[in-house]
Amino acid sequence: MNVKNIVVGNWKMNPLTLEEAKCIVQPVKRLAAKLRHTKVVLCPPILYMAPIQSLLKTAKTMAIGVQDIFWNISGAYTGEISPLMVYELGGRYAIIGHSERRALGETDEVVSMKTLLALKANLSAIVCVGEKEHDREGKYLEEVRNQIRASLLNIPKRLVDKLLIAYEPVWAIGRSEEDAMKPEELEAMAIFIRKTLKDIYGEEGRDVKVLYGGSVSPENAALIVKRGNVEGLLVGHQSLSAEHFNEILRSVDGL
Ligand code: PGA
Repeated sequence: MNVKNIVVGNWKMNPLTLEEAKCIVQPVKRLAAKLRHTKVVLCPPILYMAPIQSLLKTAKTMAIGVQDIFWNISGAYTGEISPLMVYELGGRYAIIGHSERRALGETDEVVSMKTLLALKANLSAIVCVGEKEHDREGKYLEEVRNQIRASLLNIPKRLVDKLLIAYEPVWAIGRSEEDAMKPEELEAMAIFIRKTLKDIYGEEGRDVKVLYGGSVSPENAALIVKRGNVEGLLVGHQSLSAEHFNEILRSVDGL
């Protein structure tokens, strides 16, 4: 498959049982087999990763990821999960620096350490950035640029082919479809993010895929990708309904 778009489902701390998790996966797997240029990445709570991974073994257009990882490979870090363990169990993606983790105190410095380790462990790193408020003077552009620079500090050029940036304006997360960023505004932001990546990495910056997240729904998904000029989506609450998530996948793929 020639992958044009990546759609990531971030389940956060849901659903409460593995049975429910499997009920989401099965219909998505059936649809994903028909997709022509859209890759699907599911990021369930880490406890569900292995059982879901075994369901997805034959699904060529799908991959599994985690919602966070630790910044070291092994050692005395109670409660943490190594990127090598994730890879070993079949995980191929890691969301890093989600705004909900940043709100719990995760700094750009920690995000950059986690990103480096994830990439070294051969995981694709989905690094989340996004302004808290959308001020009229456009100060948020500076905020996003600084966040990207600091979150990617120490990430060498040779590792960027597995790097993705998920632009998620915090004010647009977890709301309804009309609260998502307008595609025209997103297009300008995507250009700005790509320019920032080019300033850091030169031509190799083009290898980094830019995704959008924040109240993506079946109604706005296709327009966000096409008009917003991004290479995919990070979907939160709508990825917990197989029906809605499948509609998003269908519309992005143009089925
Ligand atoms: P949402 O979440 O789609 O529910 O807005 C997106 C995210 O937090 O990644």
